[in-house]
Amino acid sequence: MLCHANFTSGKESESGMAKRAYRLPFAVISITTDRRVPLYRQLYSEFRSAILTGRLKAGNNLPPTRELANELGISRSTVMIAYDQLLSEGYIEGRVGSGTCVTSTLPEEMLESRPIAVPAPRTNSTRNALSKRGQSLVSALPPGRAHRGQLNLLPFRIASPDLASFPFEIWTRLLAKYSRNPSPDLFGYAHAAGHPRLRAAIAAYLRSARAVKCEADQVIVVPGAQVALELATQMLLDPGDTVLMEDPGYFGVRGVFIRAGARIAPVPVDREGIRLEVVKGNRDHARMVYVTPSHQFPLGVTLPLARRLELLDWAQAVGAWIIEDDCDGEYRYAGRPIASLQGLDSENRVIYTGTFSKVLFPSLRIGYLVVPPDLVDAFIAGRIMIDLQPATIPQAALADFIEDGHFTRHLRRMRKLYGSRQSILLEAAKSELSGLLEIQDSQAGMHLIGWLPTDVNDMDAARAASKNNVLALPLSVFSLKPMTRGALVLGYTAFNDREIRAGVRRLKTALTEVEQAKVH
Ligand SMILES: Cc1ncc(COP(=O)(O)O)c(C=O)c1O
Repeated sequence: MLCHANFTSGKESESGMAKRAYRLPFAVISITTDRRVPLYRQLYSEFRSAILTGRLKAGNNLPPTRELANELGISRSTVMIAYDQLLSEGYIEGRVGSGTCVTSTLPEEMLESRPIAVPAPRTNSTRNALSKRGQSLVSALPPGRAHRGQLNLLPFRIASPDLASFPFEIWTRLLAKYSRNPSPDLFGYAHAAGHPRLRAAIAAYLRSARAVKCEADQVIVVPGAQVALELATQMLLDPGDTVLMEDPGYFGVRGVFIRAGARIAPVPVDREGIRLEVVKGNRDHARMVYVTPSHQFPLGVTLPLARRLELLDWAQAVGAWIIEDDCDGEYRYAGRPIASLQGLDSENRVIYTGTFSKVLFPSLRIGYLVVPPDLVDAFIAGRIMIDLQPATIPQAALADFIEDGHFTRHLRRMRKLYGSRQSILLEAAKSELSGLLEIQDSQAGMHLIGWLPTDVNDMDAARAASKNNVLALPLSVFSLKPMTRGALVLGYTAFNDREIRAGVRRLKTALTEVEQAKVH
């Protein structure tokens, strides 16, 4: 046996954490009493690393479990679990408890050539490693959106509902109710278009609240509106087809069109939404137009009836599809809710998409499409090819949540809360930001647009805001063609009155800095 020499040190660090080690001829196996990483895992990683870096070679014995446990002052079962793991992954052979050694079936040079340090990130060659489509997708995402960890919920992050107001007790009870019942229809593969009761509840809600003309079997439940847009595009657009898109517009859908290989033709938006003369003047035989008629994203304007009818006529005349993204149409703080465009369509040209991300919470990942009856079967087939089906338990819980009246109650409360938060932002901006930012009045949505003076670049303003702990997205990240005037997009729904007022004061500091930089 090669590995019998040993050495133990149990020195306590200032944090109370002890480091212990077992010395082998060419490797030291050490562990700490830091319980954030389980002891068996530390031991496993130490041996694995010693094997992969060639410090322990093929045929070298591992110390007997009892001896190692005694020397490190840990239980023998911890050592056995670590050895078992190494055994099952093929690093060692033999039998745990009666002698194990480093596996001899892997050639030595293969092991020695495996450094296990984290590889250095690719630098300028990263882009070349991607497909052209991959490169375009990366470019379609606004800077800073490719987050990997926790999001920073700073004022004025957009599209964020107030999580503290969500009735989590009710929600948890409903989830628990279905999680306790391991029936095949809840835990097995289920209907690709979604839970039947949820489809019926969504259809009923859309008919009464959004004037959508639909039956339950036209509703297809998907993991969020983003997937709804993806499915509609995959089913209706071919590579090279032209799609008309509001400019500025939702960058997520831009990515969807890029993935489909479509040609995106930007259509400017004015005070009444997408400009119809540009849509009608398009000579590229557009097969699709993407619109957010209830509340244009991100400018917040509403498409009036005359333009809606014109758009429907155009689509029917040229045989184009209309994608109606109604992602926050529920939030209207004055007057009556605006009815959907789909409800005016008598030719089955509109695919309607919606989501629970804004009315409940984004991580729920439940959205839906309403598809013309003749397309339902094809869309369900296409949907199966993308992700089979939505998760069933949250759907069953959501069906109850809607049927029992919690959904409408929550929506009513949020409309009131967000309406008042919008007023606070308007009032604070009026008193603090005069001359620096001109907030565009709005009676709907989850964010406001603040127009900057014409000589201020919105990227510079957003950078200055970020340095002052304010998250203000520049409007230019949503636009395909350069904008004539920059603006900031300010979400208010997730922040209480104090946070909104403090955010406005910090924004004032940031924008004043930008003004001063102009002078110097
Ligand atoms: C206009 C618009 N459409 C669609 C989506 C996607 O929503 P979901 O979270 O349901 O995928 C968003 C997300 O913010 C959005 O702003």
